[in-house]
Amino acid sequence: MHKKRSLKTEILLRLAIPLIFFISIESVLSYFVTLHHVNVAYDRWLLDSARSLAQEIKVRKGKIFVVLPPAALEIFKWDESDQTYFKIISEQKGMMAGDKFVPEPFDMDTDWTRPVFFDNEMYGEPVRVVSMLIAPEHSSEKVFVHVAETLNKRRNMMLDILLADLVPQMVLVFLAGIYLVIGVKRGLQPLHVLADEIAQRSSRDLRPIPEQHVFLEVRALTDTINDLLERLGSAIATQQRFIANAAHQLRTPLAGLKLQVERAQREQDLPAMKPALLQIQGCADRMSHLTTQLLLLARSEPIDGDYELRPVDLCKLAKETCMDWAPKALQRHMELSFEGPEQALLVRGDEVLLRELLANLLDNAICYGLAKGNIAVKVDPYPLPCLSVEDDGAGIPELETGRVFERFYRIPGSPGDGCGLGLAIVKEIAELHKARLELSRVSAAGGTRIDLIFKPL
Ligand SMILES: Nc1ncnc2c1ncn2[C@@H]1O[C@H](COP(=O)(O)OP(=O)(O)O)[C@@H](O)[C@H]1O
Ligand SMILES: [Mg+2]
Repeated sequence: MHKKRSLKTEILLRLAIPLIFFISIESVLSYFVTLHHVNVAYDRWLLDSARSLAQEIKVRKGKIFVVLPPAALEIFKWDESDQTYFKIISEQKGMMAGDKFVPEPFDMDTDWTRPVFFDNEMYGEPVRVVSMLIAPEHSSEKVFVHVAETLNKRRNMMLDILLADLVPQMVLVFLAGIYLVIGVKRGLQPLHVLADEIAQRSSRDLRPIPEQHVFLEVRALTDTINDLLERLGSAIATQQRFIANAAHQLRTPLAGLKLQVERAQREQDLPAMKPALLQIQGCADRMSHLTTQLLLLARSEPIDGDYELRPVDLCKLAKETCMDWAPKALQRHMELSFEGPEQALLVRGDEVLLRELLANLLDNAICYGLAKGNIAVKVDPYPLPCLSVEDDGAGIPELETGRVFERFYRIPGSPGDGCGLGLAIVKEIAELHKARLELSRVSAAGGTRIDLIFKPL
């Protein structure tokens, strides 16, 4: 079963996922940018403290010593949020002042020409450290000043900046999300209205869907549905016309049948009944023929438009049908000949329907052709596969050529007890095969020729 997918969820997901992705990337980037700026700002302060410490390194008589007045130490205590530690180390004397745990740069070849900043830990807490090398005047000794500071100030600052940046963004995303949900819901509303409208229709209501409330994007869908409704409407109309015609046609022989039965019932003995019984048999024959034709017509009219066509050997089919009809032609002393290639000639078709088509043409040729005349059935592969039936009867008058293919139409005064469906059936079967049907007179004197020209396989 197909998973039910909602257009609304789909649109929202497609917008929300990239939005969240870009906001995440932007947040990571802004974290690092903020970190950089915060470090730059506070590193300057840290360096100032290291420099003020460095000023307390004095040289007297070539010797180095550090005197830290309380004012200098105040600088370190002054800060409320952070702990600051320092260490002054001489290359020769070692530790001169401060806390020996203050970390030093681990890089062996540190460039001491400028202050060095790095991150480390002290007493289990992360710290930012600045280290600088002091070369006091009048002394060859090297002194290092290291100042470490915990990160609370920096963290708070980071947090303030990030919050100031993120909160409005989140609010914006939230508002945009709400707006989006409402927008998509409103946008899809006409579709629901449309669905309701269609759902409330009766099965007979095949009016086209109104297009005034429909979006351009949905128009393609409604156009297709309207097209389908139109075709459905005309298919139903055809069916109804057919049923009405069929009912009308069946009623006439049925009424005749009833009449003859009543007539037979009035007679006392069998010989007196005989004429009525013969009429009844005639009626039954006509009705049987009519029902066969009607059913065939209904069958050759696919409602869904696609009929399964398979390769059929036209030559074999025509030859066999001719053999079936030869005895009937003989009854009118007609000669039924077949002419076609030796090898098979394949066309795409429905074998049963094609046999019926030819049977109807042969039936007409035998019925309306010249007694003791000729009927020629030909199958020709070139230029296109073609099946033709030709007789030498009186022919169909020019004026009637259009109408003879209509259902239930017979040329007035036609012999036989046909019901006017034969050529209509031929036409529908030809259309089903997308074959071209051509009706022509053989000569000025008469004769009918019907060609059925197929598309190549
Ligand atoms: N081969 C033919 N020669 C002369 N007239 C024909 C021929 N085929 C058909 N017709 C005319 O066309 C009419 C319609 O034919 P058809 O649809 O087969 O109906 P039906 O044979 O039942 O009358 C016939 O009534 C007949 O007059
Ligand atoms: Mg006929």
